[in-house]
Amino acid sequence: MKYLVTSALPYANGRLHIGHIAGAYLPADIFVRWLKLHKEDVVYICGTDEHGTPISIAADKEGVSPQELVQRYHEAIKNAFDAMEIEFDNFSGTARPGHYKLSQEFFLTLYNKGHILPRKTKQFYCETDHRFLPDRYVEGICPRCNATGARGDQCEACGQIYETTTLIEPRCKICGNTPIIKETTHWYFQLNNFKTQLTDWIGKKDYWKENVRNFMLNLLEQGLVERPITRDLNWGVPVPLEDTEGKVLYVWFEAPIGYISSTQEWAEKIGNPERWKDYWLDPETRLIHFIGKDNIIFHALIWPAMLMGQDKTYCLPYDIPANEFMNLEGKKISTSKNWAIWIDEFVEKFPAEYLRYYLACIAPEKNDSDFSFSEFQQKVNRELNDVLGNLANRVFTLINKHFDGYIKPIELTDNSKKVLEEAQSLYRQIDEGYKNYQVKWNAKLTMDLARLGNRYFDERKPWAEIKNNPLSVQETLYVCLTILHLVSVALYPVMPKSMNKLRKMMGLEAVSEWENIDLNIEYKLEKIEPMFFKLDDSIIEDEIQRLKQNAKLNSSKINQIPIKEFISYDEFAKVDIRVATILSAQKVPKTDKLLHLKVDIGNEERELIAGIAEHYKPENLPGKQVLMLVNLEPRTIRGIKSQGMILAIESEDNLILVVPEKYTPPGSVVK
Ligand code: 2FM
Ligand code: ZN
Repeated sequence: MKYLVTSALPYANGRLHIGHIAGAYLPADIFVRWLKLHKEDVVYICGTDEHGTPISIAADKEGVSPQELVQRYHEAIKNAFDAMEIEFDNFSGTARPGHYKLSQEFFLTLYNKGHILPRKTKQFYCETDHRFLPDRYVEGICPRCNATGARGDQCEACGQIYETTTLIEPRCKICGNTPIIKETTHWYFQLNNFKTQLTDWIGKKDYWKENVRNFMLNLLEQGLVERPITRDLNWGVPVPLEDTEGKVLYVWFEAPIGYISSTQEWAEKIGNPERWKDYWLDPETRLIHFIGKDNIIFHALIWPAMLMGQDKTYCLPYDIPANEFMNLEGKKISTSKNWAIWIDEFVEKFPAEYLRYYLACIAPEKNDSDFSFSEFQQKVNRELNDVLGNLANRVFTLINKHFDGYIKPIELTDNSKKVLEEAQSLYRQIDEGYKNYQVKWNAKLTMDLARLGNRYFDERKPWAEIKNNPLSVQETLYVCLTILHLVSVALYPVMPKSMNKLRKMMGLEAVSEWENIDLNIEYKLEKIEPMFFKLDDSIIEDEIQRLKQNAKLNSSKINQIPIKEFISYDEFAKVDIRVATILSAQKVPKTDKLLHLKVDIGNEERELIAGIAEHYKPENLPGKQVLMLVNLEPRTIRGIKSQGMILAIESEDNLILVVPEKYTPPGSVVK
């Protein structure tokens, strides 16, 4: 059997945090290590995702070229993976020539078969920056859930996709101005052409995780809409058609192709450039994509359709283990709020394998999970140290003291045989668990294995028996060594270095296969060292404090929107801002954010819609004086004519109304 295992390509615009590792990387690395122990033919592929608007925006913000930014983060991300012992067979990047070539080939094949069609569409265009504003280049209020910070075509808060032009209060992310709507041409992938093929294919995936399968069946039922797969941008893979200057392939169209281009790069590196075909062009290859749940639609629907539409017969995903998310101390991980544990910082303070072990224990397989520093400390102290480390330590100490470091096989009593049978049974369950990506359950079973050893050791009291019954002690130690031997293989995929260290102390070679551990092994101990060390309360408290402090520092920095260009006094004089007194306020039905206000602006009463419902209760508003832009063109929102805009300060997630310092007759002019 051939396996191609991939982990989602991380965007090359930021550092890795624990949430990344827990979702798409550690479970994949563990699975691949396990496959390799079973001598399976496997290639483990990854690389950085180097296009898309988050990358060009980050580059603009830093004033560097996208190439420079991408190269820097590629290095940093690779180093973090190395530190975490995530061992890819190849780690490429999507801004490399081989990837461009293959992505363009994918596009052209689909295009020539009529699966990609051009359409004229309306897009936001910034007249200040003289450019279209795809995806994250424009922000506004979501037309579906009214969340602020929604992007051009998708809202992160509700996950819904909508027509770009329906975004409420759009603003250019570069200059903050309101964009206009302008016509442009884009190319659309005709997903619906693959509906039957996709339905048949997914129909056979009854072994998939329920979350992935249900998600897909739902989408198929709802109907497949054509998807735009090009963008007006200058950073990306150029559209390989005539007269398409300034247009690139949408990042989500070309990123998964990176799995193949990275495999091609691997084949070249091993001196056998055609070797990638043995995997990708064999329909029997087990292609397994480890991803986070936010990437399901791309991997389980769009990507398979792209593969189905090629001339070459590519293998299709065999499985898509999509993990849920990991929170941190009860709150959603947020890079912008700096609520995250960064891998590069963490591994400077703690052994990477402690983190691998803890993340395995709380792997977000079926539900979101939560990283907590105190639980991390407990897992390290009470399990790695008190259970596993302690078993090794007490067994090794006695062997060195009374048997000169050497234990050979011995006839076993029934009780000992029973214990070893139980141990072997756990060992087999762990093997089966890895096959089904059950990282979390396996971490528990492995500790159960070590607990079994400790219980047996305690029951047999070898320290008391040694004087009168050395043979019984030899038996106890032999059984415990066998259990440690089993642990050293069982936990190897999670903690490879620590397990090899354990084996070295037992006089065993490094782990190289999923061994059948028989009972005829002689153990000659080598130099003994503690396997693990405990984490003090003070270290953990410091970490919690630092986490909170960093998040606080971050939130006190204002999210600086660049200052807009100069305007003349005459232009400013056109703006008419007045004092208004709120007469009544009501929530707009079926929205969370909008209030319907009636205000008095002197000799006129007006109605308007304000997006402040999450910050102000309607009953507290009547009588309040606010400042209002009164000569803004009226606009109908949710069927209500909104005649003006009240001024508010945006501060982090808060909106604060701007009010006159003392009572002022409504209608008074602000200048
Ligand atoms: O969500 C992400 O981080 C994307 N960069 C994942 C891409 S996976 C693949 F398709 F390349
Ligand atoms: Zn602009």
